[in-house]
Amino acid sequence: MGKRVLGAEPRWLAARACLGVLDRGQALDGVLSDLLQSLESSRDRSLGRRLAHAVLRDWPALNHLLGQLLERTPRRRDRPVWFVLAVGLAELRQAREPAPAVVHAAVESIRLAGLGRLSGLVNGVLRQFIRRRSELEGALPDDPVIRHGYPNWLIRLLQEDWPDDWIRILEQGNQPPPLWLRVNRHYWTRDEACRALIEAGHACRAPDELPDAICLKQRAAVSRLPGFVEGGLSVQDGAAQMVVEYLDPGDGDRVLDACSAPGGKSAHILERADVELTAVDIDPERLADVASTLERLRLSARLVAGDATRPEDWWDGQPFDRILIDAPCSATGVIRRHPDIRWLRSQADIQALVRTQTLMVDKLWPLLAPGGILVYSTCSVLAAENRLQAQSLVERHDALEVLEHDELPGRPQRPGRQLLPGDRDLDGFYHLAVRRLHAG
Ligand SMILES: C[S@@+](CC[C@H](N)C(=O)[O-])C[C@H]1O[C@@H](n2cnc3c(N)ncnc32)[C@H](O)[C@@H]1O
Repeated sequence: MGKRVLGAEPRWLAARACLGVLDRGQALDGVLSDLLQSLESSRDRSLGRRLAHAVLRDWPALNHLLGQLLERTPRRRDRPVWFVLAVGLAELRQAREPAPAVVHAAVESIRLAGLGRLSGLVNGVLRQFIRRRSELEGALPDDPVIRHGYPNWLIRLLQEDWPDDWIRILEQGNQPPPLWLRVNRHYWTRDEACRALIEAGHACRAPDELPDAICLKQRAAVSRLPGFVEGGLSVQDGAAQMVVEYLDPGDGDRVLDACSAPGGKSAHILERADVELTAVDIDPERLADVASTLERLRLSARLVAGDATRPEDWWDGQPFDRILIDAPCSATGVIRRHPDIRWLRSQADIQALVRTQTLMVDKLWPLLAPGGILVYSTCSVLAAENRLQAQSLVERHDALEVLEHDELPGRPQRPGRQLLPGDRDLDGFYHLAVRRLHAG
């Protein structure tokens, strides 16, 4: 044959990406963008991405099946074979391609991995799975970890926090999300943007309660959307766009975005009002992304590489009219976009995040002018980071008024509002807005 088997490379890269996430703790987006850039065809890149997502969403079941199919665990240096097989199994379970083509591509993948001596094993294991599929799948343990593809600690937390909704949260985390866009009001109106999108063949929806948002049901190559290159559109989930509704910035306000990278909400604030914005982030590399985001949209802000829990290092002493704490969090509300999160986080991480969030709120509260509004938001669905964090904030600081926003989507939490993933097609998100009544 001598020629490359069609689709072997994206499959091998998907396997490598999963190895990076699961064995080395690397973030999927970073590994995938490094690996997939070697592929010329966008079809191959999306196949690689889709298969990596499929493996990470179904890892416990795939792992279990591989344990049944392989007589012994591969030696350390042969570890890639486990992931090549996981990609093959995931693809066979999805049944989008003919089974022989999947086996063929997996065999070629292991050759690309430099482990051609294992090609017989790959061939044999996948063929065995095809033959015994219903028996093996029927014998999968009846356990939520296997059924839904999440770690046990996270399932337990969700069961405690959302006794009626935890299954739906897990299921939604395994659904592909829609594409949400934000319209740049400096460039055009939402009606104009919708018309241009429809003319270009994209069915879209513009919900009343999210004035800058457009939801495309079908995925699309973003850079080819009308107005995107010119800065008229940005990609941002509708739930993230709601932050600006809570913050309610006005012309002339001094605004602090305390955790700003990569700059989605900073940009939205600047598109919404003519404010003096200070965008802080602890990570200088990520702060460079804020600079690029703003540059693309021809917006500007004062960028500060600094620690939001140490404002004494960077604050000029002038109070802010608006403070946004879009806090570092478990990101358990955006697992549908980032299936790796469930494997990269641990329960200990959540406790550490909660401590940082609390400290951030307490350190930034004195920077808020009397009458000013502080918004605390997370893309988490965990009570410890949201409702409980907010309740304790309200108890610790008495000179404040909670601003309930019953007109906005979300489940009232007293205080704040929670969106669960998939509610109105949105990401899981928590929002709390409070007004400072007077100094002290
Ligand atoms: C949820 S992301 C922010 C997303 C951003 N608001 C947006 O809309 O694009 C949280 C950010 O907090 C930053 N961060 C974490 N700890 C921080 C700290 N102590 N001070 C400032 N930023 C911090 C992280 O680097 C990360 O960029």
